[in-house]
Amino acid sequence: MYALEAKGVKKTYKSRKKETEALKGLNLQVKEGEIFGILGPNGAGKTTFIKICSTLLGKTDGEVKVLGLDVVKEEKEIRKRIGYIGQDSERSTYARLTGKENLEFFAALYNMSKDDFAKQLEEFKKTYDNHEIFDKEVMRLSGGQKQAIVVMRGFLHNPDLVFADEISKGLDPIAAKKIRSFVKDYAKKKGKTIIMTSQIMSEIEELCDRVAIIFEGKVVAVDTPQNLMDDVNIQLLELRLRSTETATPEFLQEIATLDSVKEVKQENGYLRMPVSDSSQAFESVMEICRKYNINPVISYRTATLEDVFLKYCDKKVDLEA
Ligand SMILES: Nc1ncnc2c1ncn2[C@@H]1O[C@H](COP(=O)(O)OP(=O)(O)OP(=O)(O)O)[C@@H](O)[C@H]1O
Ligand SMILES: [Mg+2]
Repeated sequence: MYALEAKGVKKTYKSRKKETEALKGLNLQVKEGEIFGILGPNGAGKTTFIKICSTLLGKTDGEVKVLGLDVVKEEKEIRKRIGYIGQDSERSTYARLTGKENLEFFAALYNMSKDDFAKQLEEFKKTYDNHEIFDKEVMRLSGGQKQAIVVMRGFLHNPDLVFADEISKGLDPIAAKKIRSFVKDYAKKKGKTIIMTSQIMSEIEELCDRVAIIFEGKVVAVDTPQNLMDDVNIQLLELRLRSTETATPEFLQEIATLDSVKEVKQENGYLRMPVSDSSQAFESVMEICRKYNINPVISYRTATLEDVFLKYCDKKVDLEA
């Protein structure tokens, strides 16, 4: 059984003035126990899709099953078994209550017993070491600390599946890392399925077993981050010249005519060149540098998840040209 199965999902937002087709026949399957990432540009339909799966929003067409249950006919059962961490999490807590009081309040809404709540809180404390978040009023917590409470709220009633929409939006890298490791450790330890969106590529790469890329309301690619990156055929040599060195037209011309170098682009003080054979290109480029008395910092890289994103979502960029 899949944790999530979506077939031909369509969503049109209607207002008096206009209609927006946010989802245009989206298909997706997520396996149980996966941490699954959804990537896509602003407005691609990620939040719309997550809200439909979480029973917070109705779809226009198609079929969605969450934990084997139909989102329309069995929404009550689904709500008991999923967690939802929304993109606009500001309104997910009560500012004048402490972190613990907030969690206690939501535990009561889920009909959790005092014992179960206490056990759950202990579990959270084991995975998140900064315990002051539980004792301070939420209004006195930093953005990252507040978000930790919001994330815990999503896991509170021990759901099998958690939808997490941009969990580390606006957080500094250290706070984001803390949230990430909480989600990863907690989900993996408990065998939870997580379906998450993020605009932070490294976050998706670090956490997700598989990733779907949504573009204009449809899934355009699904695979492991590694396979998606391997599929983008990029080998890039980058040269950064020292401040005292200049790339003369003759120097650039000579590099550009190498067989192993496809083109040379000058960007922000870097010379970037897609190459066909990295070691051959490296040798030849270094030889030309020596001839021109240039001693650059040179690096080589293959595709990143950002390149994958650009390949599918920025139709102006043709990486494999
Ligand atoms: N309540 C709404 N009423 C009308 N249109 C909406 C509504 N919510 C979203 N949309 C539109 O639906 C499309 C998809 O929006 P959605 O919020 O799902 O995108 P997203 O992928 O989550 O974007 P982001 O990365 O910015 O969070 C957009 O064109 C958006 O303008
Ligand atoms: Mg969104």
